[in-house]
Amino acid sequence: MRFLLSVGIVFVVFLAYAYSDSCVQCNSSNDPKCATQPENFLAKQCTNSSSTCYVRVVDGVTIRGCASELDNATLSTCNNNMECMTCSFMEGCNGALFPQYRLSCIQCSGSLNSTCSLDISARPSVCPTYKLGDKCYIRRDDKNTTQSFQRGCLSTAQSNGVCTDTSDCYTCEGNGCNFLQANETVIPWAKGSGYVYGSSLFMIVVAFFVTRQS
Ligand SMILES: *[C@@H]1O[C@H](CO)[C@@H](O)[C@H](O)[C@H]1NC(C)=O
Ligand SMILES: *[C@@H]1O[C@H](CO)[C@@H](O)[C@H](O)[C@H]1NC(C)=O
Ligand SMILES: *[C@@H]1O[C@H](CO)[C@@H](O)[C@H](O)[C@H]1NC(C)=O
Ligand SMILES: *[C@@H]1O[C@H](CO)[C@@H](O)[C@H](O)[C@H]1NC(C)=O
Ligand SMILES: *[C@@H]1O[C@H](CO)[C@@H](O)[C@H](O)[C@H]1NC(C)=O
Ligand SMILES: *[C@@H]1O[C@H](CO)[C@@H](O)[C@H](O)[C@H]1NC(C)=O
Repeated sequence: MRFLLSVGIVFVVFLAYAYSDSCVQCNSSNDPKCATQPENFLAKQCTNSSSTCYVRVVDGVTIRGCASELDNATLSTCNNNMECMTCSFMEGCNGALFPQYRLSCIQCSGSLNSTCSLDISARPSVCPTYKLGDKCYIRRDDKNTTQSFQRGCLSTAQSNGVCTDTSDCYTCEGNGCNFLQANETVIPWAKGSGYVYGSSLFMIVVAFFVTRQS
């Protein structure tokens, strides 16, 4: 009887050990799934005990880990579900999508005849970068034949130097809103820089002379 009791105690202690101080630990700079598919990560034992996990976004990057890694100042302000949140290991909070209502867009690219342009029922997926006020976009470009049609998150495009001039792209607000058919007239053709520069210069010259005349 006493043997069974001690086995029981050992087992309980083992469970407490195995499940305490384990947090999802990842950084979306190294692994975008940390932001987009956190359910794929298993919790790992924390190096230093604290019984608390955190998840936060810093400059659009999602970081998850053990609260003992955070400095006091960060920890003391880590109390909102938009930028930083802590929870005890039992709640498994730091393995859920964060912030909870972050944007999802259809994300794909291909030629003008590709699945990306033709299939408007594609499922949206979570944007890898978190940015307040982010939008979805559609871009078409007659110059680039392999990547001429793109759907995605505006924050991702802009960090790659695309759609920085939003009049180059169709943008919209709301999860999966970028499902328009490729031939919709509201989707602009991305400007070829030479043509745009030439025509705007021409307009400035015309405007100059028109103003001079009056
Ligand atoms: C996340 O990863 C990036 C790139 O490796 C690194 O610069 C950054 O310091 C990391 N952040 C944390 C909190 O570990
Ligand atoms: C763990 O704690 C030690 C001593 O306080 C500290 O030097 C170390 O940086 C901590 N490690 C982590 C991953 O927080
Ligand atoms: C951080 O907070 C802990 C507990 O509140 C305290 O023991 C520690 O000295 C603080 N560290 C710093 C650097 O202020
Ligand atoms: C797109 O498809 C049409 C008809 O299926 C075809 O005529 C055209 O050559 C294709 N264009 C490209 C760029 O593949
Ligand atoms: C087409 O777009 C892709 C992705 O943006 C880029 O890597 C490639 O260089 C472009 N090709 C041309 C001819 O502009
Ligand atoms: C776009 O293409 C679809 C089928 O390919 C057609 O039914 C629709 O009328 C087109 N829309 C426009 C605005 O051209």
